[in-house]
Amino acid sequence: MYAAFMLFLFMCMTATTHAEHHQPCHSPNMTGFMSVMNLKGEVKAFGSFTYDATAKKLRFKSNDSQPTNTSQALDLLMFFEEGTLYEIDTKNQSCEKKTLQCTMHPLDIPDDATFVSEINSGSASILEEQLKLTMWKGSMLDNKGHYCMSVTSGCLPVNVFYFTEPTSFFISITDVEKDIKDPDLLAVPFFCHGQPVEETVYSFFNEFM
Ligand SMILES: *[C@@H]1O[C@H](CO)[C@@H](O)[C@H](O)[C@H]1NC(C)=O
Ligand SMILES: *[C@@H]1O[C@H](CO)[C@@H](O)[C@H](O)[C@H]1NC(C)=O
Ligand SMILES: *[C@@H]1O[C@H](CO)[C@@H](O)[C@H](O)[C@H]1NC(C)=O
Ligand SMILES: *[C@@H]1O[C@H](CO)[C@@H](O)[C@H](O)[C@H]1NC(C)=O
Repeated sequence: MYAAFMLFLFMCMTATTHAEHHQPCHSPNMTGFMSVMNLKGEVKAFGSFTYDATAKKLRFKSNDSQPTNTSQALDLLMFFEEGTLYEIDTKNQSCEKKTLQCTMHPLDIPDDATFVSEINSGSASILEEQLKLTMWKGSMLDNKGHYCMSVTSGCLPVNVFYFTEPTSFFISITDVEKDIKDPDLLAVPFFCHGQPVEETVYSFFNEFM
């Protein structure tokens, strides 16, 4: 894992940008798992996500079945088009509504991303051991850092590296399925209706700091 991560980082930082005809692809509707780790190797969250690519909505619920010392219990519902994030607590039916300053997220390549390279993870010659990825990079809003992400040829996200202050994050996405299994997860829970906006956060990953 660490070696793969270092290689990914190395490629991202050193690769020179290629042909300009590459346009970022956009991921489809998805369900899957996401883990968020900081560069000290601490798992900040692991859980399931549901993503609506058309309406640009994302739900992330951490999975408490394997808690680590550093992981957080999180339940987030994000509306990237309106720049809103809900922090949900279904147990005591409470909710916090926040404004997202930066609507970038790990499941989709930003439109202004730059193509870095095409890489063969696994084996280029053994068909069933092959994972062809394309790598993209770009700057965060206000140049507060940069990101590097890789996706499969069908535009399913694989991993993302956010290099920001004060903490950098590595996000790994697994077990992706190309549909929305439970659309209710993308609806605002009744107990969140009419909630005032409590604060503005830079981006969804501020929740993991
Ligand atoms: C994604 O799912 C939503 C809600 O089910 C649907 O309206 C939309 O058309 C789907 N988008 C794609 C690209 O399949
Ligand atoms: C929690 O994670 C385990 C292991 O990956 C998985 O089997 C299980 O379905 C997950 N539970 C939820 C509620 O996502
Ligand atoms: C959790 O972290 C604390 C300090 O951060 C440490 O003392 C403790 O041993 C850790 N527990 C486990 C189970 O890793
Ligand atoms: C709900 O629970 C969380 C912790 O689990 C707590 O921080 C919060 O204050 C609670 N909210 C209400 C309204 O009880």
